[in-house]
Amino acid sequence: MLSLLPLLPLAAAATYPLVDSHKGATFLDGFRTPAGAYDNTTSGDVFWAQKGNSSVMYLNDAGRYVLKVDNTSFVPYNEKRFAPSLLTERAYPVGSVFVMDAVHMPYGCSVWPAFWTQGAAWPEGGEIDIMEGVNDQTANQIALHSAEDGCYASKDAQMTGQLRLDNCSVTSNGGSGCTVGDPNQNSYGAGFAAAGGGVYVAEYATDGIRVWFKSRADVPKEMTGDAKSLDTSLLGTPTANYPSTTCDIGKYFADQILTITITLCGAWAGTPSVLEATCPQLVGTNTCYTTYVINDASETYKNAYFELNYINIYSTAVEASSTSSNSSSGSSSGSASDSAAKPTGTSGARRALDMPVRLGWAAGLAAALGGALAFVL
Ligand SMILES: *[C@@H]1O[C@H](CO)[C@@H](O)[C@H](O)[C@H]1NC(C)=O
Ligand SMILES: *[C@@H]1O[C@H](CO)[C@@H](O)[C@H](O)[C@H]1NC(C)=O
Ligand SMILES: *[C@@H]1O[C@H](CO)[C@@H](O)[C@H](O)[C@H]1NC(C)=O
Ligand SMILES: *[C@@H]1O[C@H](CO)[C@@H](O)[C@H](O)[C@H]1NC(C)=O
Ligand SMILES: *[C@@H]1O[C@H](CO)[C@@H](O)[C@H](O)[C@H]1NC(C)=O
Repeated sequence: MLSLLPLLPLAAAATYPLVDSHKGATFLDGFRTPAGAYDNTTSGDVFWAQKGNSSVMYLNDAGRYVLKVDNTSFVPYNEKRFAPSLLTERAYPVGSVFVMDAVHMPYGCSVWPAFWTQGAAWPEGGEIDIMEGVNDQTANQIALHSAEDGCYASKDAQMTGQLRLDNCSVTSNGGSGCTVGDPNQNSYGAGFAAAGGGVYVAEYATDGIRVWFKSRADVPKEMTGDAKSLDTSLLGTPTANYPSTTCDIGKYFADQILTITITLCGAWAGTPSVLEATCPQLVGTNTCYTTYVINDASETYKNAYFELNYINIYSTAVEASSTSSNSSSGSSSGSASDSAAKPTGTSGARRALDMPVRLGWAAGLAAALGGALAFVL
């Protein structure tokens, strides 16, 4: 039986002008790297790559930007492995749309990629996980996180994804957030790459937050890296739909910093029960870290990379910045000050248990899944 009434109306679609574009040789312009030398938010086993680390952040021969886990260095025990995390210098107000077009995304045992946004004073200001997963998972999971109780996913919202958890509070369900699973096996990992990749789109609007995944064959032809505007009505039913009727967007979300990260092991990917769900059983006293991260891991991380056509931000709330113009600013390599961020010594850098674990970023999902947070060496 067909109901002519949708459960909840889709929001009035809007057309958003391009304000920032990251692609080609100037991809890194407008991005910064994390303040710290290593992952102190999810206890991942990585040193953050710096601008100028050209073996892990570079433009390839196809003209696409690559962000990858270092698979050329031998990493001795007690050291971490280099991997990238990039944050936009700007924070985008409500009325903004974030788009990533990639032909490949990172996957493999111990690998934890995310394309996400966060408030500047996290967990205040909320978090939107547009694409995130761990290890050899085969489909994407979307999530919102709110600092306080009161933001919920609607059980009645129209979407193609499956609502898993509806409480968005960072302290509910061990910090998992309100989650929606994408049933599309092209939305993550090897399936994503085999289908030619695709686009992830997140619309951050006063009437709700909507996320779409479009596999390559389904990407609207109007969506290109050079498109000067984006009309979200082209995208149809969202993969995940969080209407403001059950989450007051203005109350729980502040200006969002767009972030793209690859970490290794840590509080979600490295939890043994989570790791072993899609990867081989750990042998003896080995951990995620000793099994995958250290020594020569060139083969382990051969698929641990983003290959990006572009990351664009469209917004009705901020002016276009210079990075979206056609001014060729030349080299994309790091400025002189980047070398000051060089990690100084690594003793103590692996004291994972001393580090605060960022609750909201799925740290507790493992607990929700019944695993212990045993991310020790
Ligand atoms: C991580 O390190 C950076 C730089 O030292 C610091 O600004 C930030 O507050 C740290 N984050 C956490 C969660 O400790
Ligand atoms: C949602 O999670 C918060 C934080 O844990 C909790 O206080 C609240 O009771 C939860 N809501 C429901 C309906 O269970
Ligand atoms: C940038 O300039 C090049 C050559 O001048 C042109 O082909 C391209 O379409 C321009 N791109 C945009 C986004 O304006
Ligand atoms: C290292 O990673 C690259 C992809 O970024 C891959 O082409 C290469 O084969 C990997 N090295 C090995 C030895 O697997
Ligand atoms: C990244 O650059 C820093 C210096 O800025 C250097 O110490 C480190 O070895 C580099 N890592 C890689 C993988 O190139």
